[in-house]
Amino acid sequence: MTPLARTELPMEQRRICLVAGARPNFMKIAPIVRAMRDGFDRLQPFLVHTGQHYDREMSQVFFEELAIPDPDYNIESGSGSHAEQTARIMVGFEELCRAVRLHHVLVVGDVNSTLACSVTAKKDGIPISHVEAGLRSFDMSMPEEVNRIVTDALSDWLFCTERSAVDNLVREGKSPQTMFLVGHVMIDTLLCHCDRLARTDPATLESASFKKQFSRYGVVTLHRPSNVDDPLILGDFARTFAEIARDLPLVFPLHPRTKKNVERFGIDFGPSVVLTPPLGYMDFLNLWKDAAIVLTDSGGLQEETTALGVPCLTLRENTERPITVTEGTNTIVGTNHTVILEETKKILRGHGKVGKRPDLWDGRAAERIVGTLARLVA
Ligand code: UD1
Repeated sequence: MTPLARTELPMEQRRICLVAGARPNFMKIAPIVRAMRDGFDRLQPFLVHTGQHYDREMSQVFFEELAIPDPDYNIESGSGSHAEQTARIMVGFEELCRAVRLHHVLVVGDVNSTLACSVTAKKDGIPISHVEAGLRSFDMSMPEEVNRIVTDALSDWLFCTERSAVDNLVREGKSPQTMFLVGHVMIDTLLCHCDRLARTDPATLESASFKKQFSRYGVVTLHRPSNVDDPLILGDFARTFAEIARDLPLVFPLHPRTKKNVERFGIDFGPSVVLTPPLGYMDFLNLWKDAAIVLTDSGGLQEETTALGVPCLTLRENTERPITVTEGTNTIVGTNHTVILEETKKILRGHGKVGKRPDLWDGRAAERIVGTLARLVA
């Protein structure tokens, strides 16, 4: 753990603790840190890395590429069962809360780090903001759904990405005065890096060689326990992807959970599914933005593909991000082999959905959040 130094702030300043722990958190925190540094001297960001993700390609690479400053505090929780991981983060975060005066804690997303730090902050009497509040899959078998519900129940201020989230929170009895429909910080990062990619020499990216080799290709990501922890389900996906890849080569960056299970179960995806290690942000963006189709169980990628108008099939039975289906390019297809193949063919024949980018997904969500905090943090 990072040793704690008791630094005092000038009287008028407020220390805002920003929590990040797992890969999708880093893309969400980056624009918030930037917005706070750029225009709000009164709000001093204090960045905590919980260590939920720790491999270089799951963590450090995003700090470098997204220009996130080094964390002020590392909990180094590492992996474990839900209880072990959550408990280690809570113990580390409690130590921080007791040693350093935190005026406000801001958590993002729905991972175990989000839940652990919200519970700890609340019990220490520190007000909480939740960014990406109110999303609901209504599927309590997802650990993320439990994390979302608990975090929202405890949060003082709720920053929402889409209207359905506001409706869910109202239905759960939250006061409308505590909710702010601000758009999506992950799309802030996306739009900013699309511009950067346009100015980057593609030859410096690993994904360039794949794009050179195949003029048309698809991208796959899969990491949900319900999809990758069962050998029969993962084996079925392998058959489905191998069949699609007969017509359309697929590139599949493997999440560590998925990689372990592919090796453990001896799963073979055939010759036209290219398995790669997890990719950095720019490399992955360079790949999926030009894909003919994205097949995924990621929440974030459903939204990112909607933002750039790339056809997406979600390999789950539900989504907590319905705007990607009603306004965007996303279709929920579940895990059935025949359905996935049919929907893939539809897209490849040019009959996929034509979506639009949702309102407020304009690259300025972080500014709205930080502007609101500047008004509200006492
Ligand atoms: C976590 C989040 C999930 C999010 C995903 C994005 C929870 C409950 N789950 O799932 O919502 O979509 O991150 O990636 O918070 N591992 C490594 N190196 C790492 C990190 C993990 O090898 O840097 C391996 C470990 O064996 C670990 C496994 O991956 O046991 C799963 O990691 P964990 O953080 O528990 O859950 P994810 O599946 O990554």
